[in-house]
Amino acid sequence: MIVRVATLFGAAAFMLAPFLVAADCECGYSVNKTTDETYAVFTDLLESDFLTLSNITEDTDWAIQSWSVDKEASKGPYGRITEPRNVVSNPAKSTNTSEGLNGDQAGLELYVRKLGENEEHVSVAEVDSRRTDMRYGSFRAGIKATDISGTCGAFFWYLNDTQEIDMEFLSAQINETSSPVNLVLHSALTESHGGDAKGTPTYKVIPLPFNSAEEVHEYRFDWQPGSVSFYADGKWIDTMRDARYVPQAAGKVILSHWSNGNPLWSGGPPAVDAKITIQYVQAYFNSSDPARARDHATRCKDPNAANAICEIPALTGPPTPGNVHFFSQAASGNMTNNQTVYANDKKESSAPRKSAGIVTAVLIAAMVAWVV
Ligand SMILES: *[C@@H]1O[C@H](CO)[C@@H](O)[C@H](O)[C@H]1NC(C)=O
Ligand SMILES: *[C@@H]1O[C@H](CO)[C@@H](O)[C@H](O)[C@H]1NC(C)=O
Ligand SMILES: *[C@@H]1O[C@H](CO)[C@@H](O)[C@H](O)[C@H]1NC(C)=O
Ligand SMILES: *[C@@H]1O[C@H](CO)[C@@H](O)[C@H](O)[C@H]1NC(C)=O
Ligand SMILES: *[C@@H]1O[C@H](CO)[C@@H](O)[C@H](O)[C@H]1NC(C)=O
Ligand SMILES: *[C@@H]1O[C@H](CO)[C@@H](O)[C@H](O)[C@H]1NC(C)=O
Ligand SMILES: *[C@@H]1O[C@H](CO)[C@@H](O)[C@H](O)[C@H]1NC(C)=O
Ligand SMILES: *[C@@H]1O[C@H](CO)[C@@H](O)[C@H](O)[C@H]1NC(C)=O
Repeated sequence: MIVRVATLFGAAAFMLAPFLVAADCECGYSVNKTTDETYAVFTDLLESDFLTLSNITEDTDWAIQSWSVDKEASKGPYGRITEPRNVVSNPAKSTNTSEGLNGDQAGLELYVRKLGENEEHVSVAEVDSRRTDMRYGSFRAGIKATDISGTCGAFFWYLNDTQEIDMEFLSAQINETSSPVNLVLHSALTESHGGDAKGTPTYKVIPLPFNSAEEVHEYRFDWQPGSVSFYADGKWIDTMRDARYVPQAAGKVILSHWSNGNPLWSGGPPAVDAKITIQYVQAYFNSSDPARARDHATRCKDPNAANAICEIPALTGPPTPGNVHFFSQAASGNMTNNQTVYANDKKESSAPRKSAGIVTAVLIAAMVAWVV
């Protein structure tokens, strides 16, 4: 009897084996198909759908910032204070709508407050990814900017002031006839220009074919060794490929909305409270953490197996609540343990549905053994 049970367990495990090794994007996520002329593969992911997230403080992916700098460090007439009250979750009323529970566009709202009387610090908002091991990747965010003059909305990757990739929205530049995105790489080049990238080849102001303050659009940068390509709604807008200025170290991804009153950049502070809204963030990246690299090597048995590498779908227009693909939400669980977020137990334990399958199969095997 004991032998028979063991045999059945063995047979069940053997039959399940093919399902355990393939089809969970265990080798990573690719920009373009791996059969295309050029493509890039990234092993890890961070996906945040702010349409469904009711309270960001309960999401372990993000650290809400709370610090202040005086005007000297802020490099403007005013200092800045990041305050948690300026980071507001406004989830969607229902599935497939982009209207928030509090009205307006649903998503994560980042506020810059009107300056109070005698205040020396502008009250602003910032959230940083807890993962700080992001080294190369495809970073995407659905953002509705603001045209209330006097703020800077930023979606960026950051290590320090000489290793940084920015997509920035200066509300003073945005009106019915003008809506550019500011693209910046900060490197030793910026440092040698007194910390200002203006007038260097790693600063570009690119006009967009839509008004960024009217609705959500996707902003994306693909960072690879030696190049950074920028996209809006899946459409290429620019590539910076001077390897001397492209970051090489690991860092984190940041969402911020700020003002220091400096007329040469943010302008402002704004005359009324201003907000930008983030519908989602998706980061497919490689990790500088040797433990994560070992995890990848362990789980990725064969990169050529079906669905071992999953292609990241590219948008062909503005994001809508239904057309943005989240691997972490896929019914089939297109994600493997250790691939995702920092200490996000909820996601990591619910993702591999195959574990439930194994338990069920083992139970069935046990029951069959019992009956026999
Ligand atoms: C998700 O995984 C399933 C198999 O587990 C696969 O059939 C499907 O193509 C994957 N989806 C994506 C978007 O990669
Ligand atoms: C993906 O393909 C497009 C179109 O051929 C190309 O411009 C882009 O550089 C490719 N991306 C990567 C990461 O290879
Ligand atoms: C990311 O890491 C994987 C696994 O080591 C590697 O195959 C891939 O080429 C890396 N991607 C980039 C863009 O460096
Ligand atoms: C969000 O969650 C935190 C921690 O659980 C809680 O203190 C806070 O009151 C919640 N905020 C809202 C708006 O529900
Ligand atoms: C930023 O980090 C890089 C890599 O660690 C280092 O070489 C550089 O000196 C740092 N720059 C600043 C301004 O701290
Ligand atoms: C819109 O903004 C651009 C760039 O700042 C500016 O040149 C233009 O005069 C503005 N137009 C209007 C109608 O305010
Ligand atoms: C949401 O939209 C997607 C894409 O249009 C569709 O496939 C899905 O069935 C919709 N879900 C609901 C609950 O309406
Ligand atoms: C990978 O997952 C295993 C099992 O859940 C865990 O013990 C390990 O700490 C994880 N590795 C990292 C780098 O988080």
